This record gives sequence, C-alpha cells and structure tokens, in this order.
Amino acid sequence: MTDPVSEIRTPFDWEHRFRNEDAPWERGHVHPAVAHWLETGALNAGERVYVPGCGRGREPKALAEAGLDVTASDVAPSAAAYQWEALRPYPDARIIEGDSLDWRPDEPFDALYEQTFLCAIHPHQRDVYEAMAFQVLKPGGRLLALFMQRDERGGPPYGCSLEAMRDLFPDRRWIWPQDDAFVPFPHPNLGGKAELGGVLVRR
Ligand SMILES: C[S@@+](CC[C@H](N)C(=O)[O-])C[C@H]1O[C@@H](n2cnc3c(N)ncnc32)[C@H](O)[C@@H]1O
Repeated sequence: MTDPVSEIRTPFDWEHRFRNEDAPWERGHVHPAVAHWLETGALNAGERVYVPGCGRGREPKALAEAGLDVTASDVAPSAAAYQWEALRPYPDARIIEGDSLDWRPDEPFDALYEQTFLCAIHPHQRDVYEAMAFQVLKPGGRLLALFMQRDERGGPPYGCSLEAMRDLFPDRRWIWPQDDAFVPFPHPNLGGKAELGGVLVRR
C-alpha cells in the first residue's frame, strides 16, 4: 500500500530534473528581490537567514556576501552539492541536505527567504510549510515571500494567489503588509509569470 504522506512528498523527482538540466525556474542570476530587500532593510548584515528548498539558486551565496549568516536546505543531493561549493568561501554557512519541511534549527532565524519553494510543493503540504516557517522564525522574524502568480491548474509550480496566501498565513500568526506593498518580479523563464514579493512578520 502506498503511504499517502510519501506520495504527497515525492510527486516530483527534483534530483532527476537537476541531473537533466531541466530547471526552468532558475534565473541564472541573483533574484532582484535580494537587492531590493537589502536596500529596504528587510535583510541586514549580521542576521541569520534561512533558505529552504534552495535548489541551485544564487541567493544563498549573495546573502552570505552581503554579510548574513546563511543556512540553506534542499532534499536534492545535486542542489546541496551546488550550495556546498558556492558557499565554500563562507565557512559559517550551513547546508542541510534533507526535507526542508521537517528540519528545525537549534536557534530560530531572523528571516526566511522564500523563493519558488512554496510553489514547488503540493498544495496539500502548505499547512506543513506554514508551521515550519512559524517555528523556524523568532517572534518578529520576517518571511521574505515571493509568491508565484499562476492561474492554471496543476503544477509545479502551483499558483500562490494572495487570497490563498492570506488563508495560509493567518493574521493571528502573521502581520501582513498592505497589498500595494507587494512588488511584482516577472520571471524571465516561466512565461513571464510574476512573483509577488512581500514581507510578512511572524507574531
Ligand atoms: C522550483 S525549485 C526552486 C529552487 C530554488 N529556490 C530556486 O529558486 O532556484 C524547488 C526546490 O525545492 C526542492 N524541494 C522540493 N521539495 C522539497 C522538500 N520537501 N524539502 C527540501 N527541498 C525540497 C527541490 O529539490 C528544488 O530544489
């Protein structure tokens, strides 16, 4: 009999995709949201930041270069190996190879940088993601969210409308910015789909 949880957790073989260079979500450069959030003070040197589902993103290294203490995690061995190499000049950086929904730090983070991880997991797992984000952040910690806007059914990526995100990250646990504070970042490869960048504060 198939374990229903395992079935949900492995709908997609990420490692296979990395090995086949089938990674259209990769921008090939650092996401512009990193510079935006460094400029606006949502990310600050000396803070502890967590990047779950980091893939082969350039952002963990960019955050380390900016003086943040970086922890990144991913279930795919190729992604973890990429980050080990990228973060080699930053010996304090940590890379966790494993399930980012399960892993918990000894000490909570100041910020969680969310980039195409929430939209990569099955919507049935979103409650687990919200619990993870709440638990890994300290009170007052920031969820730096890039919510993938995608109307079509199916995925990944699975669309993360603001309406659905408001249900997922409820006001009693998260302080929301105004809707007009969200910055659209069109994705260069995914048909120009926008990611909405905004900062939610953990209560
Ligand atoms: C669409 S990719 C995004 C990667 C990276 N954030 C980026 O923007 O380039 C989704 C990533 O989530 C990882 N992933 C999916 N489910 C995971 C899980 N349960 N735990 C850890 N990583 C997971 C995949 O291996 C993949 O690297």
